[in-house]
Amino acid sequence: MVRARNGGEVLAGSCDLEVSEARKTYTAMGRTIRALRGITVRMPHGEISAIIGTNGSGKSTLLQALGGLLRLDGGTVYLGGRDVSRIGAAELACMRGILYQEPLRSLCAGFTITEMMSLYGDRIKAATFGELRSTLERINLDRNRVVSTLSVGQQQLLALELVLARRPGVILLDEPTAALDVQNAALVCERLLGAAKMGISVVFVSHNLEEALAVADQLLFLHEGELVKCWRAEELASLREGTLRDFVREHVAAALARANLPNPATN
Ligand SMILES: Nc1ncnc2c1ncn2[C@@H]1O[C@H](COP(=O)(O)OP(=O)(O)O)[C@@H](O)[C@H]1O
Ligand SMILES: [Mg+2]
Repeated sequence: MVRARNGGEVLAGSCDLEVSEARKTYTAMGRTIRALRGITVRMPHGEISAIIGTNGSGKSTLLQALGGLLRLDGGTVYLGGRDVSRIGAAELACMRGILYQEPLRSLCAGFTITEMMSLYGDRIKAATFGELRSTLERINLDRNRVVSTLSVGQQQLLALELVLARRPGVILLDEPTAALDVQNAALVCERLLGAAKMGISVVFVSHNLEEALAVADQLLFLHEGELVKCWRAEELASLREGTLRDFVREHVAAALARANLPNPATN
């Protein structure tokens, strides 16, 4: 059991995430898509790793692989030093929390918030129940509301709070702020920073470069299934949004030119 830096507790135990030479190929309508082309990276506990990249660059596939939800064609994901494909489903469910782009994938549409909380009952420890209640009040979520009547943004916040209340060692989030207004997106970032302070390894996908730069301890740029660049904290401190945007733009333009494809950004 790892004691959190702010006095809280990561109930499942903090753990590093590591991916080594991850490869994944999909076949769709006779086409082969190399979604991950040998990705190697370490995501230490207590840090936030942000993943950026254009559509189809492999971000969601990598997140699924990190969560042990995907059978890789090659390479290994290690969760706390253990091969994730060898960890049993029940243990894995305690070790990592996942927030999908579509929050209803993590929730039960016909349940009230109270019912959702009791569903997770044995996973949400007494210590975090109070925190969960007060956060729901802070974001004005009446616990008698049925999940399907909430806005997508509210569902996303609820799903995040339910994941955090379980205190997994690792949290994986796919574009968690995409459906949120500026204020609630800031709240999510605040919660992710808090989770990292507790020792949780946080990995999130974002299209918002400003947000990614604001919270990330390391920033990964994926393109066409490859990890093009990984900026660590030392470099991130001086990396400006404009410079990052130019880097991404130039890389994508060069890749399109190499493949002899038109650049939608300039056509
Ligand atoms: N289940 C699947 N079957 C076939 N192709 C897929 C599947 N999932 C993802 N892909 C393809 O793999 C590539 C990477 O997808 P994804 O990881 O979802 O990218 P991103 O999240 O960066 O947009 C895309 O070309 C996508 O169409
Ligand atoms: Mg995606």
